[in-house]
Amino acid sequence: MALIDGNLIAQQVLQEVKTRVATLAPQVPHVAFVRVGDDPASVSYVNKKQKTAAEVGMKASLKLFPDTVSKEELFAHLDSLNADDTVHGILVQAPLPKHLPETEVFNRISPDKDVDGFTTASIGRLVQEVPGAFAACTPAGIIEMLKRSGVVTAGKHAVVVGRSLIVGKPAALLLLAKGLDATVTVCNSRTKDLAAITRQADILVAAIGKPHFIKGDMVSEGAVVIDVGINRIPDATKKTGYRLVGDVDFDAVAPKASLITPVPGGVGPMTVAMLMKNTLDACERTRKK
Ligand code: GUN
Repeated sequence: MALIDGNLIAQQVLQEVKTRVATLAPQVPHVAFVRVGDDPASVSYVNKKQKTAAEVGMKASLKLFPDTVSKEELFAHLDSLNADDTVHGILVQAPLPKHLPETEVFNRISPDKDVDGFTTASIGRLVQEVPGAFAACTPAGIIEMLKRSGVVTAGKHAVVVGRSLIVGKPAALLLLAKGLDATVTVCNSRTKDLAAITRQADILVAAIGKPHFIKGDMVSEGAVVIDVGINRIPDATKKTGYRLVGDVDFDAVAPKASLITPVPGGVGPMTVAMLMKNTLDACERTRKK
């Protein structure tokens, strides 16, 4: 078993982004964050993304709204970001309060600035395999890790457990696309005899959001295991009172896997790195227009 070091690969990606950002001066790629409410996980994710943007020489701005904000007010802000030529990427942090329909909010973002890849247009482009389509950052990070770890995907059976808009569906589309050429099975919470399917996986992507859901007997010898889960479980020995674990029962699965991502330090850092790469791509495209 070997670990796929997400921190290391993310640093490589970020270093490459930083080098490219420097060549754009005096233009500075700018990603605009929008956060609604004070969900603790969202606060910490957006902070991390802002800090990373600064590290690679990008501008990051943040607009905060109370969780009572109206759809109209939020849309007016997104419209102003869409119209602002100095803004290259826009990210509305999910989850949103119940009264704000996520799909509608995401779709208010111009597809050219949709660095999160959540708009209907971006997902359509992904299905159509339009070159340069923005893919959601977490699945884009998964693909980058596989490539940089020398994992061959063509003709391999990739099993994706989870069908979310943010991870499962786009991960499946990317693995299936020309060039990666995997045979893809997507499972969901109602899949019958899930273990029989996950055991067929050459590449297993666990994105269900349930701590330690993938057990040792669900994985075959030699599989590449990508754990997308970030679950907080109570841990009295920690100052915070919790610790982070993945969707994979790491201790049971790691001895069977040929390659496996840890949690934390696996997919997580890649997501942020790919957001920077998407923003840089968005900025470079405006120069070519
Ligand atoms: N919430 C959890 N992950 C993400 C993400 O990648 N982007 C946004 N906008 N919200 C999220």
